[in-house]
Amino acid sequence: MTVQRNILCIGAGYVGGPTMAMIAHKCPHCRITVVDVNPDRIAAWNSGELPIYEPGLDQLVAATRGKNLFFSTDIEAGIRENEIIFVSVNTPTKTFGLGAGMAADLQHWEKTARQILEFSRSSKIVIEKSTLPVKTALAMERILNTRANGVHFDVLSNPEFLAEGTAVRDLENPDRVLIGSRETERGQKARETLVEIYGHWIPREKIITSNIWSSELSKLVSNAFLAQRISSINAISALCEKAEADITEVSRAVGMDSRVGAKFLNASIGFGGSCFKKDILNLVYLCRHYGLDEVADYWESVVKINQYQQERFIRNMLGAMFNTLAGKKICLWGFAFKSNTGDTRESPAIFIARRLLEEQAEIIVSDPKALKNARADLAGLAGRIDFVEDPVLAARGCHAIALLTEWDLYRHLDFQAIFATMDKPAFIFDGRNILDHRRCFEIGFNVYPVGKAPLTHF
Ligand code: UDX
Ligand code: ADP
Repeated sequence: MTVQRNILCIGAGYVGGPTMAMIAHKCPHCRITVVDVNPDRIAAWNSGELPIYEPGLDQLVAATRGKNLFFSTDIEAGIRENEIIFVSVNTPTKTFGLGAGMAADLQHWEKTARQILEFSRSSKIVIEKSTLPVKTALAMERILNTRANGVHFDVLSNPEFLAEGTAVRDLENPDRVLIGSRETERGQKARETLVEIYGHWIPREKIITSNIWSSELSKLVSNAFLAQRISSINAISALCEKAEADITEVSRAVGMDSRVGAKFLNASIGFGGSCFKKDILNLVYLCRHYGLDEVADYWESVVKINQYQQERFIRNMLGAMFNTLAGKKICLWGFAFKSNTGDTRESPAIFIARRLLEEQAEIIVSDPKALKNARADLAGLAGRIDFVEDPVLAARGCHAIALLTEWDLYRHLDFQAIFATMDKPAFIFDGRNILDHRRCFEIGFNVYPVGKAPLTHF
């Protein structure tokens, strides 16, 4: 029997917005409200221009908004009127006090728990969607169940595995949905409620359940494993450049072993995004807390290699361009942390832009979706920065192009025409290995890929 459900999501960000839009689309019998403290965000969700760019999301929201999907700033009413509450507020890395730079900053999250407690008049299921340190659900339970007024809260962990740029596809057809709960009768009943909701479009065998701490830990470990693959291939890319091997050939050979698999083996300028670094540092903090220093060091090295790869990219640029970038115009193709998103959180482009400015280069930033965020990220930095959306115009008069995001559009440009407008000798640093390097070289560019020999005219 299909049960009518009233669902609230607190936090209308990259996770909350798309996830609720998908549930609304797949479960017409559910009435879903998404609330946020930020009125501008809510206004944007209610407008023709959504606050985030995500392929397919516009259509999904257009089909559900005003029918069974609502965006609001009224958090109090939201908590009062709904029996199932997803929490997807941001949990950035702490920037102050104990654990600064490593542990998660839980202030938004704790504020949310206290609001839920304050405004609830009936029992609720509260679902952790944000990535949180292991054992956060325990703290949440403790805060929520402090009042003896008959109102009870069941806390579930339901980590989100969607990747930006493919969020709609990932939500529609996930590899798995993980739901962690207490093993008590109440906990299992709450879990079944959530299983029933996902069961409307996800095959039952893909919905896995576990104890609550395993669920929280699995999210951190999944991201740590994914990031580790990138750091592994990036570490080998440095060796390939020295040993005259080709990283694309090496990753193809390695990835064809079915035990390893072919995905997530693209050498790059390093991983970005709001999750990988934050989650690994969380894991490292947790290991240190338990006195597991060797384990902590092991995972911390994944982040160190990522930083090393970004600095190496700058050093390669410097080395190729005669050890000085001062006064040179360098065009950045792409600023988002990956293609098909406007998100720039932890984007390697931020570090690379900052380093280029330190070397006194002039930078022209180009990106089809991320210029607004790029402007905010680079605000206040000393040096000359221009923002030009069209990559061809952005490259005009430049000494070099640094390709930082793998936007498909960069593959299909007229490189002959671009070369003609650039200062000579002209350089391309392909931080994503997506261009036709041989062809660019034949046109006249000096081409520097990642993890393979450069093609130069010197
Ligand atoms: C990640 C996880 O994939 C997702 O499951 C989790 O829910 C959130 O974190 P996301 O950060 O959105 O998703 O993007 P992802 O596709 O994982 O890419 C992360 C970074 O790694 C990007 O900067 C990307 O460019 C980089 N990357 C990815 C590489 O450099 N090489 C690769 O082979 C793959
Ligand atoms: P994520 O990528 O995890 O979705 P975002 O930063 O995109 O992270 O979204 C988190 C959202 O949570 C933001 O829009 C922020 O305004 C909202 N938020 C943070 N704290 C609260 C709170 N106490 N109540 C409601 N919304 C909150």
